[in-house]
Amino acid sequence: MAVERTLSIIKPDAVAKNVIGEIIARFEKAGLRVVAAKMQQLSREQAEGFYAEHKERPFFKDLVDFMTSGPVVVQVLEGENAIVQNRELMGATNPKEAAPGTIRADFAESIDANAVHGSDSAASAEREVAYFFAAEEVCARS
Ligand code: TYD
Ligand code: MG
Repeated sequence: MAVERTLSIIKPDAVAKNVIGEIIARFEKAGLRVVAAKMQQLSREQAEGFYAEHKERPFFKDLVDFMTSGPVVVQVLEGENAIVQNRELMGATNPKEAAPGTIRADFAESIDANAVHGSDSAASAEREVAYFFAAEEVCARS
């Protein structure tokens, strides 16, 4: 299996709940490494551009409102099979359908405030990492 990089965002609901460390601990316990990180208040323009693939969906405005409602922690995670591994740690988009023990099952309240984002493919990981980080901001650790 290849070492991959994926973009993770700890969303405003989880930052407000003060569970940044608990979420990062799950990544680390699973063998993923944080290779870039920053806390940031997203502008509407940044959130809209990040979620551009969803711009025609009925939930788009609510999603942008939510993602700009408070600071987020944006990270690049690196490890074997990191993209799928992160999605498994996160659980299903709707926390009511997320498997027990996943981040969304344990920390999220609803489908629109669901604690974390994770890239869903190699192509989106590449785009999303570059959306938030310059190449020199991502530190080699493996
Ligand atoms: P999506 O990319 O489908 O989910 P995921 O975050 O698991 O990759 O959707 C992006 C975000 O949009 C999702 O995390 C929460 C929000 N969303 C809603 O608010 N309502 C919905 O019905 C869906 C599908 C998503
Ligand atoms: Mg998605």
